[in-house]
Amino acid sequence: MKPLTQQVHDLFREIPLQGETLIDATAGNGHDTMFLAQCAGPDGNVIAIDIQQEAIDQTARRIAEAGYENVTCIKGSHAEMLHLVPETLSGKVAAITFNLGYLPGGSKAIITQIDTTLRAVEASLQLLKPNGILSILAYTGHPGGQEEADAVFEFASQLSKDNFKFQELSPAPFAADSPRLFVIENI
Ligand SMILES: C[S@@+](CC[C@H](N)C(=O)[O-])C[C@H]1O[C@@H](n2cnc3c(N)ncnc32)[C@H](O)[C@@H]1O
Repeated sequence: MKPLTQQVHDLFREIPLQGETLIDATAGNGHDTMFLAQCAGPDGNVIAIDIQQEAIDQTARRIAEAGYENVTCIKGSHAEMLHLVPETLSGKVAAITFNLGYLPGGSKAIITQIDTTLRAVEASLQLLKPNGILSILAYTGHPGGQEEADAVFEFASQLSKDNFKFQELSPAPFAADSPRLFVIENI
C-alpha cells in the first residue's frame, strides 16, 4: 500500500496549486515542504513552520539545495500560526498540511500535542480560502498518538457541515497502530 504521506501528495496534485500560498504546519525534515514548493511554483509561496530549530535548519537546507526560492521557514508553534503568518493571509491559503508526531531522526520527546494541534487546526481553518484543503496525518503507534488522532477526529466531526467537508481517508482495514489521514475542505 502506498504510504499515506504519498497519498496526501497525490491528493494535492489533483488541485491547481500553482501560484497559491501553501503552509506546511510541521516542516520536520522538509519533505512535505519540498513537495509544496513544487506545487506552488515560482509564482506561489510556501510557509513552513516547525517548533524545532533543527527541523527548520534541515528544511531550509533541503529547500536551498533544491534551488527553490518560494519558501519561508518559521520557527514557532503551529498553535500560534495566526501570529506567525501575515494577517493578510486570512482566508487566502489554498492548502495546509500537518504530519503529526515527532521529527524522524530527532528527539522523540518533542512531539505534537492534542491541545496545540487542535488550536493549530482551528487556526488553519481561518486561513483557508474557499475550496482550500487541510490534511492532517496522525500517527497512533506512539504514546499519546491514538488520543491525538481521536481528538482531531472529534474536532473535525463537529465542524459545521455547511462550511466544511470532513473526511477520514485512512485505509481499511484499521489496525490499532495504523496512521490516520484526515482531510477538511473549506466549502
Ligand atoms: C512527523 S514530523 C514532520 C515531517 C515533515 N512533514 C517532513 O516532511 O519531513 C513532525 C514535526 O512536528 C514538529 N512539531 C511538534 N510540535 C509542534 C508544534 N507545536 N508546532 C510546530 N511543529 C511542531 C516536530 O518538531 C516535527 O519536526
